[in-house]
Amino acid sequence: MVNKITVVGAGNVGATTAQRVAEKELARQVVLVDIMEGVPQGKGLDQWESAPIEGFDTRVIGTNGYDETVGSEIVVITAGIARKPGMSRDDLLNTNAGIVKQVSENIRGTSPDAILIVVSNPLDVMSWVAKQVTGFPRERVIGMAGVLDTARYRSFLAEALDVSVRDIQAMVLGGHGDTMVPLISYTSVSGIPITQLMPKERLDAIVDRTRNGGAEIVKFLKTGSAYYAPSAAAVQMCEAIVRDQKRILPCAAWLEGEYGMSGLFLGVPCKLGRKGLEKILEVTLTDDERAALARSADAVREPMAAVKL
Ligand SMILES: NC(=O)c1ccc[n+]([C@@H]2O[C@H](COP(=O)([O-])OP(=O)(O)OC[C@H]3O[C@@H](n4cnc5c(N)ncnc54)[C@H](O)[C@@H]3O)[C@@H](O)[C@H]2O)c1
Repeated sequence: MVNKITVVGAGNVGATTAQRVAEKELARQVVLVDIMEGVPQGKGLDQWESAPIEGFDTRVIGTNGYDETVGSEIVVITAGIARKPGMSRDDLLNTNAGIVKQVSENIRGTSPDAILIVVSNPLDVMSWVAKQVTGFPRERVIGMAGVLDTARYRSFLAEALDVSVRDIQAMVLGGHGDTMVPLISYTSVSGIPITQLMPKERLDAIVDRTRNGGAEIVKFLKTGSAYYAPSAAAVQMCEAIVRDQKRILPCAAWLEGEYGMSGLFLGVPCKLGRKGLEKILEVTLTDDERAALARSADAVREPMAAVKL
């Protein structure tokens, strides 16, 4: 375990993330930060009171400031507003850019060696804001989207095939939006190519449902967006880092020439270990997948250009 993991934003994703981190004992201490007076304190205390029952020794505390966060090894940024029905992730752009900027300035001062896991939307742009403002190297600013999108894809496939989710291997790349790129050529069930197990039309429908997976939940909830699977995804990334697992997970990473692109965050296969982003893997893509990834990059660049820092 590490000494301290901070989660900024004690809303649905942030609070659930803190709880999962504590239950997995990934850190000695979890600090929950939010601007809402009393909310992080109340949720932190409530979670800590579950420790004797769940049997974890991770101390969870909540605060409205950053003093308690000093020296965090990992900071998960979930602060910001979430989508309501009819809103796209890009509708959150300017409000969340201001929030992520303010959070990043604080973290730069209090935890200059931290590894940041960005969750706030629009994800790829907010990851850039965090990197720009902190000045951290790309190894230490990683966006969470691909793990969630891939989990959604895998859960839909497991359901359709009536097989264990554990046996579905897949990878969703690209930006965290409607242009995301589920890689059919890298989707398999215990090594069996998915195309041998499912007709194309059914697979296309699942790919489509994956692209709209976030909106499907927003439509049900009406007052907010998904948080159980998103927090599970963020914590899987934390765990890969804390335990130096060298896991290969799709994450939003700052590209410096990989896949022929530079100067933006985009979902690509990443190796996560104790140093953070330890490697970006460049895999062979079909012409269609390559074109889809390029389109997805355009959809990230456009809102990025609209943000003034
Ligand atoms: N990357 C992904 O895959 C993914 C998945 C789900 C949600 N999200 C995004 O995560 C964010 C959080 O979602 P949520 O459902 O937890 O929302 P939420 O509204 O439940 O919680 C957000 C919290 O951020 C807090 N906050 C606002 N400004 C702050 C600041 N300056 N400092 C500290 N805290 C601040 C709010 O008070 C609130 O408690 C949203 O932007 C959402 O779109 C991303």
